[in-house]
Amino acid sequence: MSEAVYPVPEEWARTALVDEARYAEMYRRSVEDSDAFWREEAARLDWIKPFTTVQETSFDEADFGIRWFGDGTLNLAANALDRHLAERGDTVAIIWEPDSPDEPARRITYRELHADVCRFANLLKARGVRKGDRVTIYLPMVPEAAVAMLACARIGAIHSVVFGGFSPDSLASRIEDCDSTVVLTADEGLRGGKAVPLKANVDVALAKLPSVHTVVVLKRTGGAVTMQDGRDIDWHQDVSAQSDDCTAEEMGAEDPLFILYTSGSTGKPKGVLHTTGGYGLWASMTHRYVFDYRPGQIYWCTADVGWVTGHSYIVYGPLMNGATTLMFEGVPNYPDPSRFWQVIDKHQVEIFYTAPTALRALMREGDDYVTRTSRKSLRLLGSVGEPINPEAWEWYHRVVGERRCPIVDTWWQTETGATLISPLPGATPLKPGSASKPMFGVKPMLVTSEGVPIEGAGEGCLVITDSWPGQMRTVWGDHERFFQTYFSTFKGLYFTGDGCRRDEDGYYWITGRIDDVINVSGHRMGTAEIESALVAHAKVAEAAVVGMPHAIKGQGIYAFVTTNADVHPDDALRKELVQWVRQEIGPIATPDVIQFAPGLPKTRSGKIMRRILRKIGENDVGNLGDTSTLADPGVVDHLLENRPGG
Ligand code: WTA
Repeated sequence: MSEAVYPVPEEWARTALVDEARYAEMYRRSVEDSDAFWREEAARLDWIKPFTTVQETSFDEADFGIRWFGDGTLNLAANALDRHLAERGDTVAIIWEPDSPDEPARRITYRELHADVCRFANLLKARGVRKGDRVTIYLPMVPEAAVAMLACARIGAIHSVVFGGFSPDSLASRIEDCDSTVVLTADEGLRGGKAVPLKANVDVALAKLPSVHTVVVLKRTGGAVTMQDGRDIDWHQDVSAQSDDCTAEEMGAEDPLFILYTSGSTGKPKGVLHTTGGYGLWASMTHRYVFDYRPGQIYWCTADVGWVTGHSYIVYGPLMNGATTLMFEGVPNYPDPSRFWQVIDKHQVEIFYTAPTALRALMREGDDYVTRTSRKSLRLLGSVGEPINPEAWEWYHRVVGERRCPIVDTWWQTETGATLISPLPGATPLKPGSASKPMFGVKPMLVTSEGVPIEGAGEGCLVITDSWPGQMRTVWGDHERFFQTYFSTFKGLYFTGDGCRRDEDGYYWITGRIDDVINVSGHRMGTAEIESALVAHAKVAEAAVVGMPHAIKGQGIYAFVTTNADVHPDDALRKELVQWVRQEIGPIATPDVIQFAPGLPKTRSGKIMRRILRKIGENDVGNLGDTSTLADPGVVDHLLENRPGG
């Protein structure tokens, strides 16, 4: 455990929006006089009809419900665009840096983005999209992805962005789950010089979904696509015929803004639903405070818009704050591992926000790729998506930021909308590996697995005791699942699924998931999803998947597979299964290890003892704990003897 503490740099303490004393005062007010606090903070949004009620929430089963600013109305596209036009219409809203450094970057002003969004919103309307309809977005990292999201928000359609790395099957189930009838895509995506066949994937996905009546196809690479008459239309051709005048729909604060599918410990991915007012406030407020954002600064979040980080910190948060947000199509190591730092120099990026997995991969390539670039423009660094190990933190701080840039390690989840625990650069002394202190209004608590609160320093399950505006409101189509997943483990508390330690100074240290969710390269995955992909293969009888430590990815995927009796498990089958999972879910779910096992450890009642498999995955086999309830202890011996490399 790193014991280092980095004090707030003197200049930051002097100039930041929030210094240490102000953080303490604001936090106190946010929990003691929360109504007044939120009334003031909510003024950062433009409301059409002001709200009178603030918080109407309960985590208890009897009167369960979450509403914020319930009677107010607003439109988030208008908040992200229209209100900036008078003052900064000619400011660059989006800088787009393509996959290849040889292709020119694009710079889109607020005025241009506003016109693009209005035109695209009119195109959607012309195709029959109305308030409340679901629109699936399966686009690469191009500005049109932001245009599509904001166009939906403008007319009150609910967007569901699906990460471009997902397979046709994963895409189809997400389209089907929310009954989306419109899909927005591109001919191909481009990542690290490789084309991703997005339109072809859509075609496969839609083969069984005749209810989708419109597919808008953006030309990105010019790759060949088949267009289905009546259903498929050309983005540019059709949008150019549209007017750039489109009134922003008046949305209730609690009207849905978007659905984003995320993995849980059981079942298929759930559609996390966020609404308009609370999410809008949370994304813009946290972006402003955590990054100490001032208009004019160039800000870059390297996430993909297919994940929540892209929603809140590439699109909504920054644009609501009038920021210049950089959108990068590519990957950190293409054409070489200097790419991030070259992009920072090229666009004079001041604030840089990335994931620990990228840092670990780049760190391994040696300092030279970093130090050959200037990075003088950098003022602040951020981390998100998984716990950052102190070595990677120190490297980020020392080599990338040359010790002058604070690092904000932001802990949050798809469900939380935006950041809940993070340092503020002008207020919080930093401890490498700790997400540190709660955001305003956030009340974290640690409990034992029996739900007993832990006071002071200690370690336990991380729960949040009260609602915050950016909280998800439901699981699309399954409100009961929402309650069961998050509020039934510990009565009256929101359960995050994360383990956490709190130190003597009240700093929070996230230790990782304590449920059956794994975090592979910052991508969140349910082990159950990978298991069901494996058992869908004709030769597989049973499968169990656990996480394993991985130097770059944080966690890797370890799969135990029992084949059907007549199958001879060999390397060829192993390769076949790896390909199978990639095809079923997507490349992000590629298993790192497949161990064939004639049997899995089960209790006498037939339940797989995942605890034992986790220990084997972690290579922590010295003490497997209580194995007395095993139906057949011989199974475990066989697993231990046949560990790959074990
Ligand atoms: C993990 C991503 C430690 C955590 C925004 C959480 C983190 C899950 C951090 C949510 C962090 C995210 N430190 N762990 N700074 N940020 N996590 O929904 O386990 O993709 O529950 O949201 O990522 O992943 P999700």
